[in-house]
Amino acid sequence: MTTSTAIAHSNLAFVKYWGKVDSTLNLPQNGSISMNLSSVTTTTTVEFNSTLEADEINIKDDEKTATKLRTQKHLDRIRSIAGVKMYARVSSENSFPMGVGIASSASGMAALTLAACSALELDLSLKELSILARQGSGSACRSILSGFVEWLPGNSSEESFAVQIAEPDHWNIVDIAVSVSKTEKTVSSSEGHKFVANSPFWDSRLGTIQKRLEIVRRSIIEKDFRTFGREVESEALSLHAIAFTSSYEKENTWYSGIYYWTPETLELLIAIQEWRKRGLELYFTLDAGPTVHILCENHSMTDVLNAITIIKGERDWNVYINHPAKGAYILTDNASK
Ligand code: PMV
Repeated sequence: MTTSTAIAHSNLAFVKYWGKVDSTLNLPQNGSISMNLSSVTTTTTVEFNSTLEADEINIKDDEKTATKLRTQKHLDRIRSIAGVKMYARVSSENSFPMGVGIASSASGMAALTLAACSALELDLSLKELSILARQGSGSACRSILSGFVEWLPGNSSEESFAVQIAEPDHWNIVDIAVSVSKTEKTVSSSEGHKFVANSPFWDSRLGTIQKRLEIVRRSIIEKDFRTFGREVESEALSLHAIAFTSSYEKENTWYSGIYYWTPETLELLIAIQEWRKRGLELYFTLDAGPTVHILCENHSMTDVLNAITIIKGERDWNVYINHPAKGAYILTDNASK
């Protein structure tokens, strides 16, 4: 019987993964760049036990059958690498709500990958762990590595993994994630990936990615916040322009596009432009959800937080302050046989 607990941070993409070339292997249409987020984590314990007759999966606040099936499928991948048949007991908890634009699948699959591999005493490299985590959920491959990270898209499973651009302490930028809604989104990112080619602007987005990757990578290395922020904000709007125009059918209804935003999301985006006009240097990005991620340098953080407090008023918004964080790691490793 072998048990391990792993912690993984969620990550925020600056150049985003949107669309897959291969949805079984999670091979992305394009490369992406992200930063691990210090205050949003998943903690997962995996225990392989020969007395279990089935996997027992307990993910706090997520009873969905689809999540359990994804977890089991991922355990199967790891069991097959280790050559074991034992079932596992998995318990997992997030430090943040699910489905509101903070990628729980990234931290969740990264923590599950590391905890399960460690419990089975599989000695995998960061590259191998990243490849494995990617198969559970694409963006999870970036949460394995520390700090600022780039996912190289690759043409095969072995070529598609994340590498580090810089350590967390390289650049003290801040992501203030403002969660304006707790309602779970109606279109998951897995579904969103499938509909990208329905947007008439899809080819045009793909044509912008290579240059964006270069600009964002370079601006991180050179700590050029202005160039970085402008590129990242435009990139997020490019993803949402695709989402808004990705028509799809679901449960006998036709939709002209996916709206991950709520009215409060838009209210905040407009306010950010106004704050910038008043001299605050800040930019936004958004994942597949209504949460607005506000990016600033550490020295502007207090001013940005004050502006958020005023606009928030009495509303039930949650604010998460994130600094660049390390990659997935093992918390405890109790192996008793
Ligand atoms: O890993 P997934 O399938 O949850 O996709 C994540 C997609 C975005 O969060 C919108 C962008 C990204 O690169 O993380």
